Amino acid sequence: MDRYAVLGFPIGHSKSPAIHKQFAEQTDQQISYEALEVAPEAFEKTIQQFFEQGGKGVNCTVPLKELAFQRADKLTERAKFSGAVNTLKLLGDGMLLGDNTDGVGLVTDLCDNLGLSLHGKRILVLGAGGASRGILGPLLETKPSELWLANRTVSKAQTMEELFAPIGPIHASSYDDLDGQQFDLVINATSASLTGDLPPLADGLLSSKGICYDLAYSQQPTAFVLWGEREGAILSTDGLGMLVEQAAHAFNLWRGVMPETSAIRANLRG
Ligand code: ATR
Repeated sequence: MDRYAVLGFPIGHSKSPAIHKQFAEQTDQQISYEALEVAPEAFEKTIQQFFEQGGKGVNCTVPLKELAFQRADKLTERAKFSGAVNTLKLLGDGMLLGDNTDGVGLVTDLCDNLGLSLHGKRILVLGAGGASRGILGPLLETKPSELWLANRTVSKAQTMEELFAPIGPIHASSYDDLDGQQFDLVINATSASLTGDLPPLADGLLSSKGICYDLAYSQQPTAFVLWGEREGAILSTDGLGMLVEQAAHAFNLWRGVMPETSAIRANLRG
């Protein structure tokens, strides 16, 4: 039985063990997958022991993604751009490969599950922290007509604009600069939802068939999902679908088989 785990701090409410257990059953893979609470100080030692004891791969979540990025011996191109790793895989030569499946997970949820086409659309991403950096590359690859990035601290958005220039253009802005603009898709990548807050958004930012997507998810609709509904979004959703899809891409990296996600998404929505 091959051993996998998700590492984070705290980790108590992680849905990842249940998701990967269902993937394994569905694809007939003999794996175990556990949740390990690991403080940042203990990350290095835990990783060493886990792989010495036969572990094959781990997912890393808050606040360990940057440490996992530093620990990886090799990185996928998208992990390099995102500066963070959510999936480590033990390679045949003993090296650890670091990948970041968050952005591709988001794009899979938007395009395959929700049936959206992002090509030629006007997209606004809110927030220029770690979560935002993880999704910008895959979003740019869908070739939107414009991708705006708004942040309270505008300099951080400008840093992202420079960093991602080799993949595509980003328009860094303040929240005030959004005045008079309209977008087909607004993605909340700030950490505001975690504290029940809402970024300072003016009315009228959404185009008539606009869609809102919060990377965060919770039992109750987030403040941003409620904002989207008030603004008349034809769809305003949280990031549960992205959570399942990033897990599916990690599972595929480890096992070479892409699980089917619709039943699991429905189960989690309960
Ligand atoms: P994460 O890893 O979740 O992205 P982070 O790297 O600390 O966390 O980034 C948090 C992001 O949420 C930042 O873009 C932050 O804006 P600033 O860079 O200006 O601080 C944004 N953020 C957090 N709370 C917010 C709020 N109440 N309104 C608007 N933006 C907020």
